[in-house]
Amino acid sequence: MAQLADAFARPIEYLRISVTDKCNLRCVYCMPEGGLPWLRRDEILSYEEIAQIVEASASVGVRSIRLTGGEPLLRRHLERLVSMLARVPGIEDLALSTNGLLLEEQLEGLVAAGLRRVNISLDTLRPDRFESIARRPGLDRVLASIEAAIARGLEPVKINCVVMRGRNDDEVAEFAELSRRLPVAVRFIEAMPVLEYAQAQREEYVCADEVLASIRRIADLEPVDGPRGNGPARYFAFPGAPGTIGVITPLSHDYCDRCNRIRLTADGRLRLCLFGNHHVDLRTLLRAGATREEIAATLARSMAIKPERHHLRLGEPASRMRALSEIGG
Ligand code: 5AD
Ligand code: SF4
Repeated sequence: MAQLADAFARPIEYLRISVTDKCNLRCVYCMPEGGLPWLRRDEILSYEEIAQIVEASASVGVRSIRLTGGEPLLRRHLERLVSMLARVPGIEDLALSTNGLLLEEQLEGLVAAGLRRVNISLDTLRPDRFESIARRPGLDRVLASIEAAIARGLEPVKINCVVMRGRNDDEVAEFAELSRRLPVAVRFIEAMPVLEYAQAQREEYVCADEVLASIRRIADLEPVDGPRGNGPARYFAFPGAPGTIGVITPLSHDYCDRCNRIRLTADGRLRLCLFGNHHVDLRTLLRAGATREEIAATLARSMAIKPERHHLRLGEPASRMRALSEIGG
């Protein structure tokens, strides 16, 4: 069957899979403090159902898979899914986005199952701030997970930092310095106006050009090719540094032209764009006994509704990313 490409001739090779909508943190830019009305268990795809969709996707050209949430490590025995997906012919790259709380203890099992790369979210290096941004404690566990991932030889380890004025923008230099000490890709992400955060986002928004300018005051940055793992980030490095610095700019620059991705929500909808409501229900199809060829044909047809770009605007509430698998991660 033909390889997936959308109506704008972008080849689609990357599938992000949300395995749960639940999270053990409540980051201010993502979730209300009280949590969300969580999906019921029977609404969530089983590992077997996810593997069926991945097999169908691989048959039409998907090469990279990323597992996300919510917090994916809350889903029981995620290593079982990892080992199922690592065996799918055509899948060359299998990665995980996590907040790092549970990674250290699960790392060995995940790597043994075939996981090769992780992205870890980290917005501050100060414990008190961690509790005010993530609304729960856990900085020491995140840092231990980052160390463990580096020590285990995962390559590259990416650290995702959402920059917010008045919350952590004064730590940008410290984060950038991590790339001089460690083989990590430190990626600064512009905060997006997700529902309840939209109002605050207007006040706290820091554009990536400002982040880069403040890093350049420490030392020169040279543009470099990004580490493995196709993404919307642009990369730089301090000369001679073991790590890199990236910026992800959903608002200030258009990265949609390079979009090569689609998303699967925890409840089995294929989302064609991070924002907006373009989606196709794969769960009903699966549960009605669709074959791999039928699922692949639906994936191919769904390309027609992948929009050219998102239309995020400063402070304008966009639909929640919950269970949609987020951006940077
Ligand atoms: N703005 C930017 N990034 C977000 N993420 C979640 N919500 C937002 C938002 N409103 C991304 C961050 C975080 C990951 C889990 O999801 O990259 O590290
Ligand atoms: Fe959890 Fe990630 Fe959302 Fe934070 S951003 S609440 S870690 S899903």
